[in-house]
Amino acid sequence: MQRKNSTSQPDIQNIFSWKRLLPSNPSPEINRKGQNAGKKTPDSGNTWCLRCNLRRKTPLSILTWFRNGTNITATPRVLLLGVTPEIYHLPWPEGTSFLAADKSQAMIDVVWPGPKEAAQCVDWVSLQLPDNSRDIVFCDGGLSLIAYPHQQQQLVRILQAILADQGLCILRLYVPPPQQESPDAVLRDLLEGRIPKLSILKLGLGMSLQESTAEGVQIGIIWQLLHEVAPDLEKLASQIGWSAEHIMAINAYRGSADRFYFVTIDQVSELFYGNPGGFEVHRLRVPSYDLGERCPTIVLKRLLMASSNENL
Ligand SMILES: C[S@@+](CC[C@H](N)C(=O)[O-])C[C@H]1O[C@@H](n2cnc3c(N)ncnc32)[C@H](O)[C@@H]1O
Repeated sequence: MQRKNSTSQPDIQNIFSWKRLLPSNPSPEINRKGQNAGKKTPDSGNTWCLRCNLRRKTPLSILTWFRNGTNITATPRVLLLGVTPEIYHLPWPEGTSFLAADKSQAMIDVVWPGPKEAAQCVDWVSLQLPDNSRDIVFCDGGLSLIAYPHQQQQLVRILQAILADQGLCILRLYVPPPQQESPDAVLRDLLEGRIPKLSILKLGLGMSLQESTAEGVQIGIIWQLLHEVAPDLEKLASQIGWSAEHIMAINAYRGSADRFYFVTIDQVSELFYGNPGGFEVHRLRVPSYDLGERCPTIVLKRLLMASSNENL
């Protein structure tokens, strides 16, 4: 795991595992320092990520980067799985049709920045939209929130149907490392001040606890484990240089029966290429922030119907 003050190296093995998903003429899409030397492309910075860093790039270059090599028009029909404001706030061209889907009315009410009628309260695996009715689907981290394999397969089937030919599915994934860490190792790094923020702790601890993707990890257990080693969270925060407010956000996990299902690269590949399949990788971005190799953004292009049928 790449963490603050840690002597460990970025998880290069994981990064190279992603490379084999790329089309046959891959180039600068694996973007870690030194691995895309030379060519300047719209995504050639090291600070891009679906949620946190999208807005730092020039918007036009991002849209061009997505659309290049597809037949998507300049006024796409967008579907957002979730209500991530950063994606809604991209300066979409006038005429873009934007729809969001989230199963939590509370999240829609509190977080959704768009018009009420553009947000549907629905479970993604029950989405009912006309075939070929969307050009781009975004989801930030949501795949790990639905059960593997059946619900995730169902979602891929739905995306395959509602996306137009060459439509894009842009997902930030949370992918476990090839070598699983132990929860003790993650907690030791925390107590010794090598974990800079809560999002990294949650991801690291969650992935260390997952015994199988089908079982996933109960979110409440992440809180429980932290509570066992550090019952006084404020004291821990001051020991490791975090603010009390920052660490207290973990209390949202307390008692939660929801689960994470962290899919491996092979499982993502099987879902989108094999069963149910119907996609190919169009772009891939491995950000360089802490644990970025576990949070790649993958852009999948829906195959033309004729060839996608061969895949099913
Ligand atoms: C899109 S994810 C984004 C998570 C965030 N980016 C992160 O990394 O923690 C969160 C949203 O997904 C929604 N969600 C989770 N599972 C869902 C499902 N099966 N159907 C619809 N919405 C779901 C939640 O209500 C929440 O608003």
